[in-house]
Order: sequence, then C-alpha cells, then structure tokens
Amino acid sequence: MIKTCIFDLDGVLVDTAKYHYLAWRRLASGLGFDFSEHHNEALKGVSRMASLDILLGVGGMRGRFSQAEKEELAARKNGWYVEYISRMAPDEILPGVVRFLDDVRRAGIKIALGSASRNAPLILARTGLSSFFDAIVDGSMISAAKPDPQVFLMGAELTGAEPAACVVFEDAEAGIEAAARAGMRSVGVGTSPTLARATIRIDGFEGFEVAKMKELL
Ligand code: G6P
Ligand code: MG
Repeated sequence: MIKTCIFDLDGVLVDTAKYHYLAWRRLASGLGFDFSEHHNEALKGVSRMASLDILLGVGGMRGRFSQAEKEELAARKNGWYVEYISRMAPDEILPGVVRFLDDVRRAGIKIALGSASRNAPLILARTGLSSFFDAIVDGSMISAAKPDPQVFLMGAELTGAEPAACVVFEDAEAGIEAAARAGMRSVGVGTSPTLARATIRIDGFEGFEVAKMKELL
C-alpha cells in the first residue's frame, strides 16, 4: 500500500544542481581555487553549511575561517544562487515530472516535498509546482539534515501516512540513507552509482508510471 510519495526537489523535480554548482564555483574562484563538477557531486543533498565545509576542504582551507566568516561566505553563495533561481521558469521542470505527479494524484496518493533547501518555496513558485503538494517540508522547518530521517518523517506525518506506506524519490546518497532510516522505500532518480542502495532506481520520470512503481516496489 502506498499512501504518500515524498519528493526531494533539487535534482529530482528540477535541475537546480547546476545553479548550486555555479554559485559554489564562483565562491571557490573568489577564494583562489578551482571547484570541479566532480567535487560538486559530494554536495548533493547536503545542507548549506556542510556543503561549505566540503568546499573549503577541497581548497585546503578548512579551519581557516571563523564561524561568523563561514556564515558570511555561505550567505554570499546563497545570494548568487537566489539570483539564478529567481529567473527559473516552468520549462526547467525535469522531463516527465508533471505527468507523473498528475498520475500520482489521480491514483489517490498524497504528494509531499522533502527538501533540505531553504529556497524550496521560491523554486516551487517560479516553476509553478506548488499546487501539486499536499504538504511541503523544506530546510527552514528541520533541525537535522539528511541522512537524518526528520525531513521525510515530517512529510509522512503531515500527510497522515505511516512511514511504511511512504515512498521517497531522491537523487542523493544522503537522501536514500535518510529514507532507509525513516523506514521508507525509495526510488533513486538518476544514473549515479551512489544510488545503489535505493529500493529501485530509474533514470528519470519519462515513461515511469504509478502502475510500474507499484509493480516494482
Ligand atoms: C539540497 C541540495 C543541496 C543544498 C541543500 C540546501 O539538498 O541538493 O545541494 O546544499 O539543498 O539548499 P539551500 O538552498 O538551502 O542552500
Ligand atoms: Mg536532491
């Protein structure tokens, strides 16, 4: 029985990973080092401050900044990121997503957002996705980041579903782990080998249907 589908946002419903990358790379470049797309993989699904720590580690700068300075660096990155996502439009929703969300809704299954991003409401508004959700849990509502299960447990509670009746859609290893810790099944979205621990994996939503999901899970 599936009662609620919980969706991560960045990299699952929209490709905002590229904007996060552009903003982090801009920060690194200002600090005098290169930050590659390969390095950026480790930031997916990871909270803003933890991402900054990883980035500073890549530049050999961990321990160089005070907490206040780190907060200023994270705010600078976020300012650029918000500039990029403020220009987003509905055509940046990933292929097949709207059709799949419609299919989920028609099947009588609730839809929740489980995102670590504090910018989730802006992205949902810019892309026109807000109206699909029965519950929205974003980074401003949680105290523990993925792989802690808090974000998904809250989504389950807000939609009145037991964890065992929830399915999480995730593109990041930390998110798959959070789903497992919450006692939920997961669908890994994308081709990354880090998704091996998901219950099932799909390349994307094109051609994916509720009937297929029920059959595979
Ligand atoms: C998502 C993204 C991460 C990002 C985090 C916090 O999990 O995958 O790359 O660091 O959200 O996002 P925020 O928009 O609040 O900085
Ligand atoms: Mg993600």
